[in-house]
This record gives sequence, structure tokens and C-alpha cells, in this order.
Amino acid sequence: MRHQARRGATRDKGHIGLDEIHHDTRMLAADADGIAEAALLLGQGALVAFPTETVYGLGADARNGEAVARIFAAKDRPQFNPLIVHVADAEAAQHYAEWSDMADRLAAAFWPGPLTLVLPLRAGCGLSPLVSAGQPSVALRAPDHPVGAALLAAFGGPVAAPSANPSGRISPTRAAHVMAGLGGRIAAIIDGGACPVGVESTIVGLGDVPTLLRPGGLPAEVIEAALGMPLAAPVSGAAVMSPGQLASHYAPRARMRLNAQEARADEVLLGFGPDVRGDYTLSASGDLVAAAARLFDMLHELDAGAAGTIAVAPIPERGLGRAINDRLRRAAAPRGE
Ligand code: TXA
Ligand code: MG
Repeated sequence: MRHQARRGATRDKGHIGLDEIHHDTRMLAADADGIAEAALLLGQGALVAFPTETVYGLGADARNGEAVARIFAAKDRPQFNPLIVHVADAEAAQHYAEWSDMADRLAAAFWPGPLTLVLPLRAGCGLSPLVSAGQPSVALRAPDHPVGAALLAAFGGPVAAPSANPSGRISPTRAAHVMAGLGGRIAAIIDGGACPVGVESTIVGLGDVPTLLRPGGLPAEVIEAALGMPLAAPVSGAAVMSPGQLASHYAPRARMRLNAQEARADEVLLGFGPDVRGDYTLSASGDLVAAAARLFDMLHELDAGAAGTIAVAPIPERGLGRAINDRLRRAAAPRGE
């Protein structure tokens, strides 16, 4: 959906619209001015698409929950899949992950480059929990592209970025692809020409055994040669491990009751909007971006409390509300063992 441009509108508003995203998407040159402007926009919580060696990424400040939530809104993604956090180098990556010898060897051999490492999330590292979809792991990579690298240097922080395409569409390898898919929904695109690799990064999980989670721009054989051991296949056999797709994922200890208007005995009520205020609220004003940004924090906090059941107010099934409801339904699903 393309909205009419309103020049300057996005720059004057510190707060970008939630369900209604009206943007004049700016095409920025890949020069010092364009990169400085893009870094400024990221710092304001806006979305900026930028070139990497693989595909164009849709970037947001990975520490800003509302900015990260806007990624899902702009892509019209009905689920909160975890996102890759882009960093300048291995030193920066160590702020966000529990680093290991194997991570060190792979980063030394292949970063910057089309390899993403999934590592245990470092507690208290400041990333929004939405980046990792509330899980205790984080995906990190250092892109090998002069423009992407310059943006990371100018911004000086972690940038969460999925491929810059609407959900379910083909990944963009040119700025014009991004404009065609997301024009009107994001603040800016840095035009860095065609992406040299053209397919997404290879994703390797470094848990007990190194696991190939997604084949990509760096051949698995090359990684295996560097490690001196084969990469395991994901347990599910799926090409991409997307934890958000598991029905059992993120099951809280407490029971969940959805579409609740008021709390019953032994319930804590998580409100939304002015009609259901609750003991806590996802957003008192009914702001879906703010609600998405708070969702995982709130569920963790309420699950740590004494209530036997977490009751949750109705969330409208539009915009980010679909992803919020998807995650709430999974959390409320009957548990297995
Ligand atoms: O080349 C690329 O990787 C591009 C550029 C922009 O860097 N990015 C990209 O992001 O392809 P995206 O969101 O389209 O794919 C990220 C994949 C998802 O399939 C997600 O499930 C997986 O990474 N992922 C992210 N964090 C994860 C985690 N903590 N555990 C397992 N998988 C994770
Ligand atoms: Mg993608």
C-alpha cells in the first residue's frame, strides 16, 4: 500500500505513526551526507533500508523496542520472527552475545561477510527483547559492504535488519526494489547500487554443536573446512529455524486467558487501550507499536509474579495486532510435556 508523499512530515514528528504509516520515503545517496542523515534517522527510531553485500536490509535501532516493532509493521509481518542484529565487527558483537572460541574462529575467518552467528543472548545487553522474539539467543552479523559498514560506523550502535521486502515477497537486491515494496512505509533508503551476493547470509547456530540453520551466501562447505567439522542439520529439518513458528514456543508458567475484559480471582490483567486498563498495560492509549515493543517484557514480568493466570485484554486484529495476537495465542496454547 502506497501512501501519498507529504514532504517533511516524517522529519518533524519525533513519533512515527503506528497503524497508519504515512511516509515520504527519501532516496538517500550513498555518500557522507546520505549516510549521516540515515544514521540520524535511525537514532530517532525511524526505519532506514540500506545495502549489504547480500540483500538490502530494513534497519532499526536494535535497542529501541518501538523502532523494532515498526519493522514488523512496515513489512506487514504477521509474526514476530527474530531479527539479525548487524554490528561493525566481532568486538561489537561481544556486547550482545555470550562469545565463544568457535564464534571467534568463524568471525575471524568470515567477518565482515555473509555469515550470521546465533549465540546465547548476553543478559542486560540492552537489545530490545523483540529483536530475539523473547528468546535467549541472538543472531549477529557484520556485513561486508562499504555503505552498510559506513552506516554502522556513523550510527555507532546495533542495527536490527531483516530483508527490506514486504512479508512473503522476494528479497530486494536494488534500492528500486525496496522503493517498490516499502515506499510510503519507511523513512529512507540508501541507494548503494546492486548487492553483489544477492542471497541472504548463511546462518549458523553455535549451541552444543554448530548447526546450519539457513544455507546462504557463504557455502556450508567453506564453513566446515574452517571449523574442521561438519555442520549439523537443524533438528526439525526445516531450512530456517524460526522459533516463532513453533506452537509451543514461549509458553509461560502461568495460564493465559485472552480477550479478557476484567480480572477474575487469581488473575493479573494485562490491559490495552482506554477500555481495559488492567493491572498493567501494553499501551494505555491503544498504540499497537508501543504494545508490540512491551509484549515480551510484560509477559516475562507477569509470569514471574504470583498470579496463576495472565488475562490479556482484546487486541485488535490489524497492523501489529495480528503479530501480537499470534504470539499471545501461542503462549496460551495447551502445553505438551
Ligand atoms: O543477509 C541477510 O541475512 C539479510 C541482510 C539484511 O543482513 N537479512 C536477512 O534477515 O535475511 P531475515 O529477517 O530475512 O532473516 C533472518 C533469519 C530468520 O529466518 C530468523 O528466523 C533467523 O534469521 N534468526 C534470527 N534470529 C534468530 C535466532 N535468535 N535464532 C534462530 N534464528 C534466528
Ligand atoms: Mg527475509
